[in-house]
Amino acid sequence: MSTTSATSTTGVPSTPAPRAVLAGIPAYVPKPPAPPAEGPSHRLFLNENPYPPLPSVRKTIAQAAAQTNYYPTIHPERLTDALARRLDVPPEHLVTGPGSVGIYQQIGQALLEPGDEVVYAWPSFEAYPIVARMAGAVPVEVPLVDGVHDLDAMASAITPRTKAVFLCEPNNPTGTAVGTAELERFLDRVPGDVLIVLDEAYFEFYRSPNAPDGAELYRDRPNLVTLRTFSKAYGLAGLRVGYGVAQPAIAEALRKCAVPCGVGRLAEEAALTALRVEAELFERVERIVAERERMREALLGLGWEVLPSATNFLWLPTGEASESVAQEWERRGLLVRAFPGSGLRVTVGSPEANDLLITAAKEISPPAR
Ligand SMILES: Cc1ncc(COP(=O)(O)O)c(C=O)c1O
Repeated sequence: MSTTSATSTTGVPSTPAPRAVLAGIPAYVPKPPAPPAEGPSHRLFLNENPYPPLPSVRKTIAQAAAQTNYYPTIHPERLTDALARRLDVPPEHLVTGPGSVGIYQQIGQALLEPGDEVVYAWPSFEAYPIVARMAGAVPVEVPLVDGVHDLDAMASAITPRTKAVFLCEPNNPTGTAVGTAELERFLDRVPGDVLIVLDEAYFEFYRSPNAPDGAELYRDRPNLVTLRTFSKAYGLAGLRVGYGVAQPAIAEALRKCAVPCGVGRLAEEAALTALRVEAELFERVERIVAERERMREALLGLGWEVLPSATNFLWLPTGEASESVAQEWERRGLLVRAFPGSGLRVTVGSPEANDLLITAAKEISPPAR
């Protein structure tokens, strides 16, 4: 006899219960399609790199595609070695994952116990509350002040129950950065048994003598892991490769929790080539940074409020008007990201998309401050 739902011994229909913590994690809901725009649309909502892969990277991917019947290695050893040479660190200090979000899950599994507290700023990267909750840990959110990390308040939020601090430098979604001196002062205040995750997803776009370098800071800090990604500056978001650098005890724990073969063959080969042609890729980063400044100046000149950015996106604190302004841009094919009641995050796109955004900004009135 076949039934459509399982029945328990008492005759009551039942299904296996997911862990209770999942009730606090929102299910993924695909973004509803934007109203059709007149011309082509531009993706300015995910902080992606507007440039397609270089021919050399594409060639590597095509070559690797001929071998997808074979598993990759459990950990991407060649990429690990190449990163070790690039950063001048021992390979045992590295951990890789399917994007840096993959490494966050490894962090949750390797370090967080139910009831542990995880301190991070808010708004910041949206994965943070999910990672904490998924592990049964307690998120402790410390509000940004004027879009910037309040490091004193974050240090004060650390209690004996705190197990980890997630720090996004520069911060997503506000684009702001605290700089080396302030960051180091904060790191020195965090107890040694609290893991600090320094999220440097936008490291390559942060052009300042005051920009921290987590691959240096971790060297004398056994409680620090620095996370970086091939998704942004290296333009490989679609292939999913990220990495972390930490002292061996933490790096090994994180490697133990990696999904075996989690970095696929195409991803590893593309990342290896991207490292080889880094200079060419960084010319593009240079152009994105120049475009970021051009857009910011133009928007400021039109009366919009725009925070200084150390990333490949801009934050406009448009408050209650955020969704309606986003809709105005979307109607013109410019797909930006609204944070209801708070602001708009606009990725720096191609020069063409950025021009369109500036032109549209002339037609939409900036919300009153
Ligand atoms: C701060 C931050 N960290 C991590 C990530 C995730 O990057 P990945 O593509 O490596 O998973 C993002 C992506 O937007 C991000 O903004």
